[in-house]
Amino acid sequence: MATERLAVIILGASGDLAQRKLLPALFSLYAQKLLPADTRVFGFARTPLTDAAFRERTAANLTCRYTPDAHECARLMEQFLSRCHYVGGEYGETDAYLDLAATLRAELGELNFNRLFYFSIPPSVFLPAARALGNSGLTTCDNRAGWTRIVIEKPFGRNRASSDELVTELGHVFADDQTYRIDHYLGKEIIQNLLVLRFANHVFEPLWNRHFIRDVRITWKEDIGIAGRAGYFDDFGIIRDVMQNHLLQMLALTAMEPPQQLDAHHIRDEKVRVLKDIAPVTLEDLAVGQYAAAEHGAGGRPAYRAEHGVPPDSRTDTYAAAVLKIANDRWRGVPFFVECGKALDSKIAEIRLRFHDNAVKIFGAKAPHLPPNEIVIRVQPDEAIFLRINNKLPGLETKFAPTELNLRYKAAFNTVIPEAYESLLLDVVKGDKSLFIRADELAASWDVLDGALRELEENLREPELYAYGSAGPRGRAKLLKRHDLLPEHTA
Ligand SMILES: NC(=O)c1ccc[n+]([C@@H]2O[C@H](COP(=O)([O-])OP(=O)(O)OC[C@H]3O[C@@H](n4cnc5c(N)ncnc54)[C@H](OP(=O)(O)O)[C@@H]3O)[C@@H](O)[C@H]2O)c1
Repeated sequence: MATERLAVIILGASGDLAQRKLLPALFSLYAQKLLPADTRVFGFARTPLTDAAFRERTAANLTCRYTPDAHECARLMEQFLSRCHYVGGEYGETDAYLDLAATLRAELGELNFNRLFYFSIPPSVFLPAARALGNSGLTTCDNRAGWTRIVIEKPFGRNRASSDELVTELGHVFADDQTYRIDHYLGKEIIQNLLVLRFANHVFEPLWNRHFIRDVRITWKEDIGIAGRAGYFDDFGIIRDVMQNHLLQMLALTAMEPPQQLDAHHIRDEKVRVLKDIAPVTLEDLAVGQYAAAEHGAGGRPAYRAEHGVPPDSRTDTYAAAVLKIANDRWRGVPFFVECGKALDSKIAEIRLRFHDNAVKIFGAKAPHLPPNEIVIRVQPDEAIFLRINNKLPGLETKFAPTELNLRYKAAFNTVIPEAYESLLLDVVKGDKSLFIRADELAASWDVLDGALRELEENLREPELYAYGSAGPRGRAKLLKRHDLLPEHTA
C-alpha cells in the first residue's frame, strides 16, 4: 500500500543540518516505530559519496536516546543505515533527479509511494532545485501515487519582496498544501507547550493582557560567535536569522488570541491576526550592534570582523533588539522587548512576562522595592516554566523573599524530551501543518521588519560595537530606558 512506503529525500545530505539534526531525528523516529513500515532515506548532494560512505558519516551522529539497551540500539542502527542510500548530483540539473528517480525505483518499486523532499540546502539553490525536481516528474502529486511534500528551511527570502517571490516561484512546482516552511523553534517541546499553558490553565487567561502585564521580553542569546557560518551569516545578519522567524514566532504564540479550534487552520489564523497587529518597527525602537574582541583580550574570542570568512569591513549586525507594540485590545500599550544576539554574556532563550507592580500597599514600609511578579518560559539551556512570587521568609518577623514556583522539565518529567526536528518531521509525515509557517504568516512577519531592514542597509552606517561576552551594545540600554523597561533579574 502506498502509505506504508515512504521515501525521505534530503537535498544537501552532506551538510551540517542533515548530518547533525535530520538524520539523527529520522533514526529516533525509526527506533520508536513512528515511521511507516517501509521507510527509506535518500541523501542527495554534489559531494560524491558511495552508499557505504554516506552510511558511515550518518552513523557517526546517531544516538540511542530512545533505546538505552546498547545491543538493541546497535541492531536498530544497522537496520536504519541499511535503509539509507545516496545519490550524487547538481541541485539544478534535471538529469540528476532522473538518476535519483532510478534509485528510488530500484529500492521501492514504481513511483507510487509517499515522497518527502527536505531542502537542507542554501537558499540560493532552492529555486533551481525545485524547478529541476519539477521537470524530472518526481514531484507529481497524484493521490493514487501517494503524497509529495517539501520541507524548506528558513531564511525564506531576504525581505518581503524576495520572500513573496520565493513563495510564488516554489508554488509553480509545489502547491501550498504540499509546502512545509519550517522554523525549528516551533518544534521545541516548551514552545509547543505554550498553547497548553495558556489555554488549558484557566488561572492564566484572565491575567494575560495589558491590565496585568507590564511588559513582555523575548530573548535569544548565544555566548559564542558565528561558529564557522560566516558565509551564510554575513549575508543575512541577526535580524533575518533570528528575529524575523524565531522571535516573531514566539511572540505570536505568546500574544495570539485563543483559536476557535486546535487545528492548523485556526491556530495559524490567530497567529497571522496578531502579527498583522504589530506596528512596523522604526529605527528609533531598534538597537543593533556587532561584536568586537573580548574586553580582556581572551584568546579565541575574536571580533566578528576577524572571524574566518567575514570581510574586514563587514557592517552585518550580530545583535538586535526591538520594542514592538501590538495594536489590539489585549496588548495596547504593552512593550514587547525582543532581543537576539551572538557573543553575548549568556546562552539563553526565554519568554518573560512581567506583571505590573505589586499591590503591596497593605505592607507599607515592610515591603520596600519588591520585584514584580513574572512568568518565565525558558526554552534553553534547560526547559523550565517558573512563576516569580513574593513570599514571607520563614521566621518570627514578617520579612519578604522573592521566590520561584519552579517547574524544571528535567526534574519534573522522567522522560526523553523530543528534539525539535523529531517532532516536526513526524508532523510532516502525518500531514499536520500546525507548526509550519503559512505564506500569509510569513508575509506578516516580514512586514514588521522590512522597512527598518531597508533603512539600516541604505544608511551605510558603521555598526555600534559591543565586547564579546558583554550584554550588548550601548543602544540596548538606551532602548530599555526609552521605554521605561526595568533592568532584568537574573534567574
Ligand atoms: N545548520 C543549522 O543548524 C541550520 C539551522 C536552521 C536553518 N538552517 C538552514 O538549513 C539549510 C541547510 O543548512 P546547513 O547548515 O546544512 O548548510 P550547509 O552545510 O552550508 O549546506 C548544506 C549542503 O549544501 C551544499 N552547498 C553548500 N553551499 C552550496 C552552494 N553555494 N551551492 C550549492 N550547494 C551548496 C553542500 O553540499 P554539497 O557540496 O555536497 O552539494 C552542503 O553540504 C540552509 O538553508 C540553512 O540556512 C540550518
